[in-house]
Amino acid sequence: MRFFHFHTPEQVPLSGIPDCAVAIDVLRATTTIATALAAGAEAVQVFAHLQQLQEVSQSWPAPKRLLAGERGGKTVAGFDLGNSPLDYTPERVRDKRIFMSTTNGTRSLQRVEGIPVVITAALVNLGAVEAFLKAEGFEEVWLVGSGWEGAFSLEDTVCAGGILHRLGCQNHLEQLGNDEAVAALALYQTWQGNLLQLLRCSSHGQRLLGIGPENETDLAYCADVDRLAVVPRQVQPGILASVS
Ligand code: MLT
Repeated sequence: MRFFHFHTPEQVPLSGIPDCAVAIDVLRATTTIATALAAGAEAVQVFAHLQQLQEVSQSWPAPKRLLAGERGGKTVAGFDLGNSPLDYTPERVRDKRIFMSTTNGTRSLQRVEGIPVVITAALVNLGAVEAFLKAEGFEEVWLVGSGWEGAFSLEDTVCAGGILHRLGCQNHLEQLGNDEAVAALALYQTWQGNLLQLLRCSSHGQRLLGIGPENETDLAYCADVDRLAVVPRQVQPGILASVS
């Protein structure tokens, strides 16, 4: 397997198609997607734009749908849910279709939706993603961070590095296809024992803590490695369902 890491959706090349893309938004979209599917949501359908989400969701039966919207770390007014993974409990989401739009995470999913296999990763499902990639044995995999409005984010890159480390790339450096992949592995090797502290230092971690100290519990949850055994996988463009 050969791995390329891109810090943001904007960095993803316009030409060339890998076998698999792994979309990453540790704080918090891909943590929340994994949590929703592990809690029994029927699927998560993602949108870059809120208006499109509202239009498409209307065609789904009202008792079977939940609208999830986040902008700037806060819940969008009038939506059922924001982007805190802790709100996605089985009681709330079981058998429901989640129509979701977030600031960056859903944009990165949209950027890679044409790639043959698309999955999502976060620290909470690192081991499940590791097992999936080992079992599939793809030739080329793109690890795509979401960043923040086009800029690098520590938490997505450390997660990419965690995937590379779990797959043993530190012993097979030839598997690292670009400088970003080498740097991601090094970031993970430095911080693997203290991931919560890294999330607290990150600019989006600081943003969330600035919105409210209660977001400390979200950071702790998002740093809780291997908590979930689910692999969210794209089953139709923009629609993710559970692969365990
Ligand atoms: C995003 O998509 O930018 C994030 O998931 C923001 C967040 O809710 O923390």
